[in-house]
Amino acid sequence: MWLLPSGPDQIWASEPHGPSPVDASNELPRNPLPLRPNELIRHKQNGRPITILTAWDCLSGALVEQAGADAVLVGDSLAMVALGHATTLPVTLEQMRHHTLAVSRGFQAAPAEQPLLICDLPFLSYQCGAAKAVEAAGLLLKETPAAAVKLEGAEAEVVEVIDRLVRMGIPVMGHLGLTPQSVHRLGYRRQAEDRISQERLLRQAESLESVGCFALVLEHVPAALAGEVRRTLTIPTIGIGAGSDCDGQVRVTADLLGLTPRQPPFSPALVDGQKLFVSALKTWIEEQTASNIHRDNT
Ligand code: KIV
Repeated sequence: MWLLPSGPDQIWASEPHGPSPVDASNELPRNPLPLRPNELIRHKQNGRPITILTAWDCLSGALVEQAGADAVLVGDSLAMVALGHATTLPVTLEQMRHHTLAVSRGFQAAPAEQPLLICDLPFLSYQCGAAKAVEAAGLLLKETPAAAVKLEGAEAEVVEVIDRLVRMGIPVMGHLGLTPQSVHRLGYRRQAEDRISQERLLRQAESLESVGCFALVLEHVPAALAGEVRRTLTIPTIGIGAGSDCDGQVRVTADLLGLTPRQPPFSPALVDGQKLFVSALKTWIEEQTASNIHRDNT
């Protein structure tokens, strides 16, 4: 049966393979689905920059949708931004599912106008083999409106996992350079500084494209390298701390809004949200305190 989605929770329950053409026999309208992962490639072909913002709950989901992001990433950075962990490692698959549903409830636009929703596969949900990864990614696509997953790295095992996910119908965005799930091996340093590691990253990018990734995040790598990757690949490159020669940019929304205590050097805040909000709340508290001075306590 052809279902018209009536809210974010039902988008994924309808036609899963993109808008269906008008049926001339009964004049059904086009299936109103949000942007499909593979459609991002058209933006690259047309030279239209892609914008992706993270969200972690209903309020941040509403903000980034209203701001007009092409895609919303429920990144595992929510472990740090929303759950107060020191790294992204502790967040669980169940927490990613829970937060992805919350973000989707913040979307208010008609389904066809909503941003593409992408969810990070958390640490240990794909490192133990393809079968476990299909189960984890499948659960996210089955139980939330996310239409794609992102996972980090391009070691042979990861490429094998991505290959399986894509062949099972699960769109995958790759992530190279600074990969926070490997923080204990790589730290938070800029990656691929020498030519040997740059050539390795280029080869890894090509292998991610060859197994069917629909886009590739490049985090904290030299701008010239990001440009080289962009020119080599057909799929869009999405940079963060990778200079402007990318097909799009992704940012952690809490960083842009100045809400995170430790700002990454490559992602300056647009506004000092912490100062702004604390000062507004302080004013409210002061007003309440002042208005209660003359209260009759007897
Ligand atoms: O988890 C996240 O927010 C991310 C972005 C930094 C790309 O992976």
